[in-house]
Amino acid sequence: MISSKGRVVMISGANRGIGLAIARNLYTAGFFLSLGVRNKDSMPNIDEWDEKKVMISKYDAIDKNTHTDWVNSTINQYGKIDALVNNAGIYESVSVSDEKDNEEALDLMWSVNVKAPLSMTRLSLPYLRKSIAGRIINVASLAGKAVFDDGVGYSMTKFAAVALSHATRHGGWDDGVRCTALCPGYVATDLTRSVESMPFEEMTSPEDLAELVKTVLCLSNSASVAELVVNCRPDIVG
Ligand SMILES: NC(=O)c1ccc[n+]([C@@H]2O[C@H](COP(=O)([O-])OP(=O)(O)OC[C@H]3O[C@@H](n4cnc5c(N)ncnc54)[C@H](OP(=O)(O)O)[C@@H]3O)[C@@H](O)[C@H]2O)c1
Repeated sequence: MISSKGRVVMISGANRGIGLAIARNLYTAGFFLSLGVRNKDSMPNIDEWDEKKVMISKYDAIDKNTHTDWVNSTINQYGKIDALVNNAGIYESVSVSDEKDNEEALDLMWSVNVKAPLSMTRLSLPYLRKSIAGRIINVASLAGKAVFDDGVGYSMTKFAAVALSHATRHGGWDDGVRCTALCPGYVATDLTRSVESMPFEEMTSPEDLAELVKTVLCLSNSASVAELVVNCRPDIVG
């Protein structure tokens, strides 16, 4: 196991849902955090966090300048990056049987769920290679492992996020960088509030996922977890 103390982790979309739960867990474990959020004022209870151990930068997936600025400001504050959690993501309804043209929704999902994580991976990799244990966790989805009904748009992007994870694992391996695709089913966050097929309180909790993320970040280089499939019901995968 590798100690969490003082290791620097970047987390996108850390202001709510899974990202916030990861941030809280890792902060308590002793990691130093660099949080990327669209709106800095949306970060809850930030006054309670030690400003030497937490910094907040603007990260908008669709604005590449914010990607560069976030990485640069992380280096300016801490001098290193040990891990990146590509968590920010969106769901838009795009299905095979749609009659309307929803190219815009599809393009937005590709930008936020796939292209931005690739951009952040490229920008942070040079620093992760210098860490003794560089880590990237891409929050993909169970929808990146199996297709449910005809909801093709989100699934395509999450399959791509899993592909990105495997390519990153290969690309960073020789320099000690390990990459994991986290693939949860339904998680109890704003994203699933309107789901009717299962009760919100029976969905996986963001806090349980955060605990898994911490464990993956602390595992040795010789215990790489390529995919972590987590489910709250007995689906085909996981
Ligand atoms: N909930 C689930 O059932 C579930 C299951 C599998 C995978 N996931 C994945 O888990 C990740 C986190 O989702 P969640 O459930 O925590 O959803 P959530 O509560 O809706 O949070 C989504 C996060 O992504 C951020 N975000 C959205 N668009 C962005 C953009 N253009 N630039 C930067 N940040 C942006 C949001 O920021 P704002 O607050 O500014 O909007 C928010 O922080 C996503 O990748 C999602 O696909 C979720």
